[in-house]
Formats: sequence, C-alpha cells, structure tokens
Amino acid sequence: MTQASAPGKVILFGEHAVVYGQPALAIPLSDVRTTVTIETSHAADPHSIHIIAKDIGRSYWLHESEDRDPLAFAIRLTLEAIGLEVEAPLELVIESDIPIASGLGSGAAASIAIIRSLAQHFKAPLEDRMVSELAYQVEQIHHGTPSGIDNNVIAFETPLYYVREQAPQPFSLGQSLDLVLGHSGMTSHTGEVVGALRTRLQAEPDTYNAIFEQIGSLVAQAYQALQVGELGHIGRLMNQNHALLQALGVSIEALDRLVDSARSAGALGAKLSGAGAGGFMVAVVTPNTQGEVAEALRHAGAVHVISTKVVA
Ligand code: PMV
Repeated sequence: MTQASAPGKVILFGEHAVVYGQPALAIPLSDVRTTVTIETSHAADPHSIHIIAKDIGRSYWLHESEDRDPLAFAIRLTLEAIGLEVEAPLELVIESDIPIASGLGSGAAASIAIIRSLAQHFKAPLEDRMVSELAYQVEQIHHGTPSGIDNNVIAFETPLYYVREQAPQPFSLGQSLDLVLGHSGMTSHTGEVVGALRTRLQAEPDTYNAIFEQIGSLVAQAYQALQVGELGHIGRLMNQNHALLQALGVSIEALDRLVDSARSAGALGAKLSGAGAGGFMVAVVTPNTQGEVAEALRHAGAVHVISTKVVA
C-alpha cells in the first residue's frame, strides 16, 4: 500500500488581482487534507487503474474515463512524467476532507495527492516544483487561466508570496495565525467567476485595473505584516481587501453576512477567500475570540465552519 496526502489552502490576500499580474499571499491549511491510497488490486485488466473518489461517490476505470476528467488526467500526466507503464492493476482511492468548489483548493490538493502517491508507488520521486507544474496542467482543465497560486501553495505546503509566472517565494509567519473559516452554503466555479470578471474588466478596464492595483499595494503591506506578525494590521488589511473584492463584484450577500458577523463577534479582520460568489470566507481571530466567531458564523448561516491554527 502507498499513501500520500496534500493540504487545502486559503488565499489571505490578492485573489483575482493575481490573475492579472498582481502579487497574492496564500497559506496551506494542513488540518484539512486529501489523501490518496494506492493498492494492488485483483482486477481483470492487468494494465488499468481503478479510481475510487469516495467523496463524490464515483468509481471508474482509467481507460474508460473522459479525456477532461481531472482525476484521470492527473494520473495520465504523472505516468507520462515518470515514464512508466502501469505494470500491475492498481486501485487508487481518493478521500478528502476539503469541501469541493469552495475556494480551499480541493482540486489542486486531489491532483497533488494523486501525483505524489503514484510517484511514491513507482519509486520515482518528483521534486515539489515538478509536482506543482503537473498539478497546474490539471488546474487548466478547471479554468483556462489559473494564476498557479493553488498548485504552488499546496505543493510546497508553506506560506507563499506569489506572482504569476515568477518563482514562488516561501516565507515564514512572524506569529501563528488563528483562523475561522465559514462556508456560505453555495459552491462556486472559479472558471465562471474569473470569466465574468474578465468580461467586466474588458468593458471598464480603467476601473478594474485601478482596483487590481489597490489590491496589489495591500498585498505588499500584508506581506510585511505577516512576516512581522502584526495581527491587528493583518486584520485591517483583510477588511480592506474584502471591500475591494466587493468592488470587483465577486462577493455575494451570504459571504458579506458571514464577514460582518465574524467582525462583530471580535475577529481582527475577515474577507472572502478564493474565487468568491460562494465558498468560504476567512477570519483572523485570537485564541480568545475563536469560539465566539465560530458560533457567530453558524448563527449567521455558515453551513460548515473550520477553526484552525497555522503555526508560525
Ligand atoms: O477559488 P479558488 O480556490 O479556485 O481560487 C481562485 C483564485 C483566483 O485568484 C480567483 C483565480 C486564480 O487562478 O488565482
């Protein structure tokens, strides 16, 4: 048996603007993970892989899967990258506690857990950079123009300062971050949200480019604040980033309600995280306010609340 796992992620600053060349800051969520287990199976076909994706209730053969099936695509890419034929029938089981289509990187985490488990199974170790590159190719199935932030932060599993098409810069948090994440109850399709924003940008380039630049300058300040561990400043910058995401038109009432309720319950700051139009928001809290903020989010309609600490 071979097993590998990958974390979820949260974008703390800079989503959407990162697609247009601005920097963004993301951290891994090591407490929520996708795990892939590979076992030799007794299947009839000696050259095929049986894929079992427990959380989405799917079970199918690699050779019968569609070309654009992301899980199958990740398997094919990895086998090609390590230059190996499948010599034994395998069963590949994917289990995840990262909610799907919700801004926490479930797609990239599944790809990366698949890539690592196969590399390990075939004793062909792949560097993190290669793992990230393969996962990026799978991300392109989900939406045509991913910035690459998800695959990088999940493959390197460290806080990252990220600019599109530049080497990701890992950094250390000056202080641990206590977070509470609340799910708005709606899933969101990154490709659609990014596509709709691109249409608005084309209609009013000056307006939207100015917002992207403002987000970029918040990211520069947040990068310093995260490294020094100035929690109050981080919170205020998150609030400002949320306002700019509202101005981009990617928030929705349910997310705004959760963000407001987290702030009222004592969070240092809160914003939507990821593509928006559904999915999760994230609040920075202190150990003293974490319970109250989680309770306030449930009360305000969050369908899933995650309390976690990202250790410095
Ligand atoms: O919702 P997610 O986790 O797919 O994050 C999307 C982040 C965006 O900046 C909106 C898109 C991207 O490719 O960076």
